[in-house]
Amino acid sequence: MQAIIGGTGLYQLTGLVVTRRQVVRTPYGEPSGALTYGRIDGGPEIVFLARHGYGHTLAPHRINYRANIWALHEVGVRRVVSVATVGGIAPHLSAGAIVVPDQIIDYTTDRPRTFFDGEDQPVTHVDMTQPYGAAMRRDLLAAAQACGIEVVDGGVYGCTPGPRLETAAEIRRMARDGCDMVGMTGMPEAALARELELDYAALCLVTNDAAGKGASVDQISVEGMHVVVEDSMKNVHRILAELVSGRCSASGGA
Ligand code: HPA
Repeated sequence: MQAIIGGTGLYQLTGLVVTRRQVVRTPYGEPSGALTYGRIDGGPEIVFLARHGYGHTLAPHRINYRANIWALHEVGVRRVVSVATVGGIAPHLSAGAIVVPDQIIDYTTDRPRTFFDGEDQPVTHVDMTQPYGAAMRRDLLAAAQACGIEVVDGGVYGCTPGPRLETAAEIRRMARDGCDMVGMTGMPEAALARELELDYAALCLVTNDAAGKGASVDQISVEGMHVVVEDSMKNVHRILAELVSGRCSASGGA
């Protein structure tokens, strides 16, 4: 089964006909909310989870990433699309652009980041050379193409701890590191998904120039970020509907 984790501005899926909701408890505590099951266009059943809670009550550093990923795996999910908003660092990633990143740099330090940390757990080093699932990335790009929506294929996602936005100097450093975009929720979510062998990829909407860049040279307009979400999230919905309706790829409903 396939899951969609919604980020800022994506608290429910357009066109999702809800079939049921399920509260899942995990050894790591509570997920961000009940899992919502449903279908789009009569396609296969999918699961939706709002990462920040359904009323956006959880800041990035308060999200229980382990509980979210564990709960999805527990109910049989094997493929995950993680939707997130990001700031654009690379010049070609301006507000409204949609990106399927292919790499991550993790700047967070204090988030529980593994399922393998109990005394009874084996020491386990999962491979993260390619942090996102190839099949899930391919299917997202194919879905975007089928909708005629331009999506940037690849880019380095830098994950900061939040909840504050970055300083201009931090963004300059991230640019030197090779980051193309900045967000606050990409890790440890991707690593946890890998630990449970989920096919996991991200679909990122650029809502602003990162701090010190372009229109954000003096400050980031939070109001402006909301406007971009209002204007452009519909394209994300269209890509997701195409993906989960199973029309654009043979493995779309697997
Ligand atoms: N920084 C971090 N996270 C973000 C940003 C940003 O500029 N925009 C959207 N999410």
